[in-house]
Amino acid sequence: MAIPDRFDEERYRGFSLLHDEHLASMEEFAEQEDVPIIGPAMGRLLYVIARSVGAKAILELGTATGYSAIILGMATAHVGGTVETVEFDADMATAARKNIESADQSGRVTVIEGDAREVIEDLAGTYDMIFVDIEKEFYPGVLDRCVDLLKSGGILFFDNTSFKTAGDFLDLSFEHPDLVTVHQFGFFPGHGPENDSFTLCLKK
Ligand SMILES: C[S@@+](CC[C@H](N)C(=O)[O-])C[C@H]1O[C@@H](n2cnc3c(N)ncnc32)[C@H](O)[C@@H]1O
Repeated sequence: MAIPDRFDEERYRGFSLLHDEHLASMEEFAEQEDVPIIGPAMGRLLYVIARSVGAKAILELGTATGYSAIILGMATAHVGGTVETVEFDADMATAARKNIESADQSGRVTVIEGDAREVIEDLAGTYDMIFVDIEKEFYPGVLDRCVDLLKSGGILFFDNTSFKTAGDFLDLSFEHPDLVTVHQFGFFPGHGPENDSFTLCLKK
């Protein structure tokens, strides 16, 4: 990607989420241990979107150590909302529960251990927002069920949507009859990878 002269990459890397100490230590751990968390810039975006739609019921697919789940918990605290997050790796789920407890979010954020592709078939809730961050090859397969689980006017947020492994997800979500979709391609400091895209879909 060509970067224009005015683009001050180092300066943009300096922006971080809410200056929260707990999140900062999770960012440090993720860097040391190579945990693919969304990072502070994308975390801030997730927070802004969740708060601005007034999300009370949020579903996340792909917990890892609980970084984005904690951010979603923070975003929904003022409306007394809840976050359910799904993770199939038992060690990650255990680490996430510990982090969620240390962040004082265990009353709000629940980790469901299992394969998201199966778990979503059994969920009965109607969500205001669904954040999807699992293996990208599963994106096309979970799209329709996520749309079913979302209320009208709700927001679907998929991360890393330009990965080749996401197959035809960009087309499927863009052409979905029940969604108004935007793909944002750009530079996201501290996010892996930094040149990437995310997709936001509004359910009609
Ligand atoms: C990119 S990381 C999630 C990062 C997290 N959203 C954050 O930003 O803090 C992806 C996680 O999804 C999990 N995962 C991948 N495919 C999954 C599936 N089908 N069901 C449940 N978890 C899955 C992986 O084990 C990994 O921990």
